[in-house]
Amino acid sequence: MSNFLPIAEKIAREAGTLLRRGYGNVEQIEHKGVVDLITEFDRQSEALIVESLRQAFPTHAIRAEEGSGQTAKSDYEWLVDPVDGTTNFAHGFPVFAISLALTQHGQPVAGVVYDPLRDELFAAEIGGGATLNGRPIRVSSGTDLSQSLLATGFPYDVRTNPHNNFAQFQQFSLRSQAVRRAGAAALDCVWVAAGRLEGYWEFRVKPWDVGAGALIVREAGGHVTSIEGNEDFLSSDSILASNGHIHEQMLRVLREGDQAPLPK
Ligand code: IPD
Ligand code: CA
Ligand code: CA
Repeated sequence: MSNFLPIAEKIAREAGTLLRRGYGNVEQIEHKGVVDLITEFDRQSEALIVESLRQAFPTHAIRAEEGSGQTAKSDYEWLVDPVDGTTNFAHGFPVFAISLALTQHGQPVAGVVYDPLRDELFAAEIGGGATLNGRPIRVSSGTDLSQSLLATGFPYDVRTNPHNNFAQFQQFSLRSQAVRRAGAAALDCVWVAAGRLEGYWEFRVKPWDVGAGALIVREAGGHVTSIEGNEDFLSSDSILASNGHIHEQMLRVLREGDQAPLPK
């Protein structure tokens, strides 16, 4: 095993301590877009993570959501989401996480997602399986979409973007047990990995939202593609993560929409 994971885990836990202190104490909320927020804690968490990664891996590139990364000619690039679930964090809704992914030649090779309020640290290195607080995790074994608990999210430009996922939300709601929208893409992924959800889909996600979570799903035995079914989901802007057993059924709903079969 490389030293990537232990270092990333330590950094994610330090950022988590910062966010736990900040939770409920947000004073500065700025708008990046009409509904897209940023708080002082997004910036502080990113500064802590980027500085720590720089010190540990001075030759690696870093792509961080709020723009403070570093460019470098390297096969390795870190994808940093300092607060995944900022809307929740700013409102005091207890669902947010820190997400750190390491890619090599553009493919995720290590990933950590830390949920500071539940003290749950999800991690995976390619070929090494996935863990939650050090214990191995597996996806669920459900094979029937109609019995499945799913998750999704909606793009920030939902007010103006006709491709807003509302139609798919309805289509999956009619064909699954239920669909949740908790508001943190990284947690949606790792909850699939831990067997709490059978599947998760979303349009218009960014590599820092799902890079780590997707590797954790794969290493927990699940399947991750783009919405169209391509394995190289990171170069698209969509994700479909599942326990593997319902992947084809979910792809069918995404392809056929209202024409996809309904449960008997
Ligand atoms: C957002 C959350 C949300 C998802 C959005 C993401 P942010 O990340 O993960 O669940 O629906 O697509 O942008 O902005 O809170 O880091
Ligand atoms: Ca995010
Ligand atoms: Ca974020």
